[in-house]
Amino acid sequence: MIAQCLLAALVATATPVAARPDAEFWRRAMSFTNGTTPCGLSDSAPTVKAPKANPWSSISPADAKAVYDFVHAPETGLNLTASENTTLTGNYFWFIDTLNTNKSQILPYIDGNEAAPPKYARVVIFEGGKAQPVSQEYMVGPLLFSSDTTIQKYDFAFNGGKGGQPLLKAVMTEVADINVALFDGAYLGPADKDTNASKYALKGYVTNERFFATASELRAAFDAGELTSEFPQTRDQTIEIGGKRYKVDVEQQYVEYMGWSFYMAFTRTLGLQFYDIKFEGDRVLYELTLQEAAAQYAGFQPKAAGTVYHDTYYAFGTSSATLLEGFDCPFGSIMLNATFPEGPGNIEVHPDAICIFEADDGFPLARHRSGSGNAYGFANIASVKNTTLHARTVATVGKYDYLFDYAFHLDGSLQITARARVGARFGSRISQGTQGSFHGHVLTYKADFDVVGASNGLEVTELIVVNQTQPWYPELGGFEQMEYRTSNMATEAHNVHLSIQDSPFTRRSSSFLKSHLAVTQQHDTEVYANSWQNVNLAEAPQHDFLKFFDGESVDDTDTVMWFNLACTNHFTRAEGVPVTLYVEAVSSISFAPHNFNDRAQEGDLLDRRWIVPDADGVLAYDDYGVTLPTCQIELDEPAIKIEPWVTI
Ligand SMILES: *[C@@H]1O[C@H](CO)[C@@H](O)[C@H](O)[C@H]1NC(C)=O
Ligand SMILES: *[C@@H]1O[C@H](CO)[C@@H](O)[C@H](O)[C@H]1NC(C)=O
Ligand SMILES: *[C@@H]1O[C@H](CO)[C@@H](O)[C@H](O)[C@H]1NC(C)=O
Ligand SMILES: *[C@@H]1O[C@H](CO)[C@@H](O)[C@H](O)[C@H]1NC(C)=O
Ligand SMILES: *[C@@H]1O[C@H](CO)[C@@H](O)[C@H](O)[C@H]1NC(C)=O
Ligand SMILES: *[C@@H]1O[C@H](CO)[C@@H](O)[C@H](O)[C@H]1NC(C)=O
Ligand SMILES: *[C@@H]1O[C@H](CO)[C@@H](O)[C@H](O)[C@H]1NC(C)=O
Ligand SMILES: *[C@@H]1O[C@H](CO)[C@@H](O)[C@H](O)[C@H]1NC(C)=O
Repeated sequence: MIAQCLLAALVATATPVAARPDAEFWRRAMSFTNGTTPCGLSDSAPTVKAPKANPWSSISPADAKAVYDFVHAPETGLNLTASENTTLTGNYFWFIDTLNTNKSQILPYIDGNEAAPPKYARVVIFEGGKAQPVSQEYMVGPLLFSSDTTIQKYDFAFNGGKGGQPLLKAVMTEVADINVALFDGAYLGPADKDTNASKYALKGYVTNERFFATASELRAAFDAGELTSEFPQTRDQTIEIGGKRYKVDVEQQYVEYMGWSFYMAFTRTLGLQFYDIKFEGDRVLYELTLQEAAAQYAGFQPKAAGTVYHDTYYAFGTSSATLLEGFDCPFGSIMLNATFPEGPGNIEVHPDAICIFEADDGFPLARHRSGSGNAYGFANIASVKNTTLHARTVATVGKYDYLFDYAFHLDGSLQITARARVGARFGSRISQGTQGSFHGHVLTYKADFDVVGASNGLEVTELIVVNQTQPWYPELGGFEQMEYRTSNMATEAHNVHLSIQDSPFTRRSSSFLKSHLAVTQQHDTEVYANSWQNVNLAEAPQHDFLKFFDGESVDDTDTVMWFNLACTNHFTRAEGVPVTLYVEAVSSISFAPHNFNDRAQEGDLLDRRWIVPDADGVLAYDDYGVTLPTCQIELDEPAIKIEPWVTI
């Protein structure tokens, strides 16, 4: 339910931190426009030009179309039939996405004078026409599409040694009518992907806690009226008054805010991603990306007991869509479109699927009251406002609405929060005929820290209780005291904390779920924690996260941290029906600078007050030139746009 949080201190082991740049940046960023009417809530953010064109951007619509045509051309030898006309034993296109570009090729571009590395498309083909059917990933590039463009297998990022082999079955059709009567719906299975359905056998049906080995036994019980239907299933809003203090390069998906800068990217599979996150000009993170959202259920009927979802299978990009300004995000937010390849050579645009806004945190960054002896009870009061820039997106995958929030704080800390809203249905009895299945949500993220250079280490700090004696208090003997212990992690490690370690439904396909925090050495081949196809491959996964842990050093080298927000174990209750609330299904992690800065970061901020009474008791306010705007607020109902598909 409520987050258990985890603290990790990252230490830069390379270059010592240089003196912070001058305060002029803050001063410029802090200047408000003087109060006008209305408040300019709907103003767009000031623009900024990204220092470099975004190398993580999506492939263009023209390339998406060219790649689609290319894989369908007879010369590639893929022998594809149009998806609409294919059969179980045919070869057909599944999806196209933007391929992750190797870090080793991006760094010479963003940090040096090299040209931008070429982009590649990621294409998944279901090859049911092969003797050994596979769903094979390919990389097509370099792009822009030209006569140099080639197609190669994209296997280097998946250590299972072969393409995925998802084999699904649809055996529920035979009893669809009973399902409709009992559950008001029928599961006919996603598109069949096996080439020979007769290899599958039906084990049986379970309902009302009874097992029926055959459809006719089930039908007999249904006809006899023995099966009854389940009962019907039943933040502070802030406003950016006075103008926006963040700048956006919409085209390059680049943002600057109070010393922070970062690029955003969006893929069909993984949704919103962050790259090259800098604080006051120094890189902190090369990459911050969601890798997986998994849910594992408990239950005494096989559907719940055997259920593990890997939601990348359903794609986070395609499931991120329109946010309501003023409700999902505060009024005045900058709303950005999510754009990704979809369908046969199209680009799909989900308008307003990403929002960016600055929020007042509701408590000060720093404050102090000193002195007394007058009627006010202080000689002076100082308080500095705490505000945060948020980037947010919501992915609706089936019955889950995942709210992903990335908060960039003024003190250089970065908080990643995940909230899950679930239509709960099956655990604890929550009403007659309905139980809530206990289930755990685990969200896996990759954080490639490059704190002032790529060479980093992980310092683990523990606060422990030990028995000590103090020579100046010999009469007290030994007594408990707190002690601070630090050590640097030497080799790749994978700690084990989470609840379910051994389940036939996740055997080897979900090892990334089984630790809170894992640290590995960076490799271009270790891009993802999971493959979107693993969910169907429990015993022989396309990608096994455990293989990353082969004893390499993680001290003073380029390290990657993988962490799980796993605290949303959802103990269901009636108040969570029909939807659980974001306030309880929340989990977050904060990364805070640890001796990265020379001193507290609030010193330069002008959004503060210093209040001193004079001898006559008259209060003098120093507003540091940051006056409060006075304006009239006019709010509009959220404007919802049509989702355009761009076809070329
Ligand atoms: C804002 O406008 C008011 C009146 O229009 C003026 O008195 C005040 O000096 C202005 N403040 C700033 C910071 O420009
Ligand atoms: C699918 O098959 C139909 C009927 O043979 C044909 O008219 C149509 O062009 C085919 N679609 C594609 C994309 O090849
Ligand atoms: C191409 O695929 C079809 C099935 O869609 C198959 O019948 C045919 O033999 C394949 N051709 C080659 C050259 O593999
Ligand atoms: C990225 O790195 C991998 C592993 O070193 C390599 O196999 C692959 O060819 C590289 N990709 C490109 C586009 O050069
Ligand atoms: C499908 O599988 C069954 C059972 O293994 C086998 O008898 C049959 O020959 C297979 N059919 C094809 C077309 O491969
Ligand atoms: C977002 O998509 C809408 C269409 O729904 C379009 O009008 C708008 O220009 C797009 N915004 C950007 C920044 O591309
Ligand atoms: C500012 O507010 C955010 C959000 O509430 C909080 O996480 C952060 O720690 C605060 N910063 C300081 C320095 O208190
Ligand atoms: C300290 O010593 C006392 C008395 O021997 C013992 O009960 C206690 O558990 C010790 N505490 C720790 C942290 O070892």
